[in-house]
Order: sequence, then structure tokens, then C-alpha cells
Amino acid sequence: MAALDRRDRRHTLSDATLAYILLFSIGSAIGVGMFVVIALSTRRKRRSFGSGGPEPDTEALAHFEKSWLVIAAGALAAVILFTIFVAPYGEAAGPDPQIVNVSGQQFAFVLQPATVKVGQPVEFRLSSSDVTHGFAVFDPDGDFQFQAQIVPEHTQLAVWTPKKTGTHEIVCFEFCGVNHHNMLGQFEVTP
Ligand code: CUA
Repeated sequence: MAALDRRDRRHTLSDATLAYILLFSIGSAIGVGMFVVIALSTRRKRRSFGSGGPEPDTEALAHFEKSWLVIAAGALAAVILFTIFVAPYGEAAGPDPQIVNVSGQQFAFVLQPATVKVGQPVEFRLSSSDVTHGFAVFDPDGDFQFQAQIVPEHTQLAVWTPKKTGTHEIVCFEFCGVNHHNMLGQFEVTP
């Protein structure tokens, strides 16, 4: 698979990719930490509910629960705040967009046209004739560019400006059936 080989061969990582790896690592560490805390707390509670133990302090538990709710809501709000501006949805392509019609179906992408110019906004008009697909774009160095859902019965717009010339790979990012892993495509960015 050319797309995957190319990504394996890359030797430099962009700042965005490094930032993503860092955020993903921190997020994973927090997730694992929360799992451990919750697992340990249930063990302690179970013991105290056992025969002859002291009555649980429900007021303290309710307070504890509320604190966690506030932390979880705050974390969610922070994630939305920091990611909503880089979401590929709802952006305008400007007065003179390059329009590419993308049709996704099990298990291929059809692009018309399949060539765009570098440095000018591209408006992808994404539609699906069967199930939901993911439209993920990688530049010639294998760096992830953006991802948008392709859903049936709706034309989804995604605007993106190519920064590099060359062959860009498309990978389906939504499990869509037995051949999902072979749902690949590409387009050219010319000077
Ligand atoms: Cu289409 Cu996975």
C-alpha cells in the first residue's frame, strides 16, 4: 500500500503532528490515571460497605461526585474550545474556490476533478451513496491534513488550502464494511 509505505518512510514530523502526539500522550496518561483512581476507589468503597463496617458518608460521596462532574464538564469545554476552530466544517472558501466533488461509496472515492492548485482554497463537496465514510487527507510527506465525515443524503462541505505540491493520499477514517481498509484514493496538487 503506497499510502502507508510513504508514511513509514517519513523522517521529519511537522509541528502539528508533534503537538498532536504530545496532546494524545497527555490525554492517554490522564485517561489511564482516572481509570486507576476509579478502580482503587471502588475497591475501597466495597470494603467499607462490607459486613459490620461503618455507614458510608453519603454527603461526602455526593460532594465528591459533584467535584468530578465539574472537572469532567470543564475538561470537555476546554477540548471543544481548543478544537472547534480547527474543525474543517463551516468554513467559507472565499470568492474563487476550487471545487472538487467527492463521491464516497463502498469502497472507493471518486473525485472530480482530481487535480487542484497549490495555495488556493479547495472546497470539497462530500457525498455518499451508501453508508458513512471518513475523508482523511495526507500530504506527500505523509502528514495528516484534515478529516471530514461523508454522510448519506447530505452534501458536506470541507474547505482546505493545499500547502505542498504532489500526490496527496486519501484514507477512509470511518469503518464502513469488510473492505474499509482498502478504501483509499488520491489527488494531485500542482504549482
Ligand atoms: Cu469507507 Cu471506511
